[in-house]
Amino acid sequence: MIVPQHISIIMDGNGRWAKQRGLERVQGHMEGVKSVRAVTEKCVELGVKYLSLYAFSEENWNRPGEEVSALMSLLAKCMINEYNTLMDNGVRFRVLGNRSRLAPELDEAITKLEKATENNPNTTMLIMLSYSGKWDIMQAARKLAETCKPEEITMEAIDNALVTAGVPDPELLIRTSGEQRISNYMLWQTAYTEFVFTDTLWPDFRKDSLVAAIEEYSRRDRRFGKVK
Ligand code: IPE
Ligand code: IPE
Ligand code: MG
Repeated sequence: MIVPQHISIIMDGNGRWAKQRGLERVQGHMEGVKSVRAVTEKCVELGVKYLSLYAFSEENWNRPGEEVSALMSLLAKCMINEYNTLMDNGVRFRVLGNRSRLAPELDEAITKLEKATENNPNTTMLIMLSYSGKWDIMQAARKLAETCKPEEITMEAIDNALVTAGVPDPELLIRTSGEQRISNYMLWQTAYTEFVFTDTLWPDFRKDSLVAAIEEYSRRDRRFGKVK
């Protein structure tokens, strides 16, 4: 099995998981947190350097207010409850996205957890929150417009202006729940990423499902435009 350096996941299907069981959508999100824990532990065990997780898109702000606040309070709870698990597993925690849209208290709690875990040596977990790929490219373009001459806007300069600066592009992107679209996720960074789609709903996606996705990735022939 070839283990990627960077695995990214569009964690989808929490609502449907809950609906199938006659539960509230938020209960699907709560069960989804357990999958995040399981997958993170497996990444540590396998030596995956970066695990990025699409947790909330810019478009998700348009969901009913009730669901948005339920998700935000769940996230706030995680900032406290997940501290021990992150430390025990040596996981570095970071949140990337349009953080100016987050409630100041949540943003502060995130910064605190980022600081507390910054020297952890194992997997870096990147929670993509209030994130969208087009927004990322736009904020990078604005930054470069302020600091660069046109000829200084190189591919590398763009890489370094994105919120994922310093993180290698994901070799593998997994999307759960049967949807086969990018939903405004990392548009620039997935230029040569291998996509694995699975019908499994996110709350059911655990360690074995991750290994199955990595095995599928390992069977892919990555040519990067060349002839092999
Ligand atoms: C993914 O599950 C989690 C978020 C987008 C926050 P969904 O909430 O999209 O679940 P479905 O797609 O409605 O089943
Ligand atoms: C994408 O899921 C965003 C996250 C998983 C956070 P959605 O459920 O919001 O995507 P669409 O609406 O089906 O494209
Ligand atoms: Mg969805």
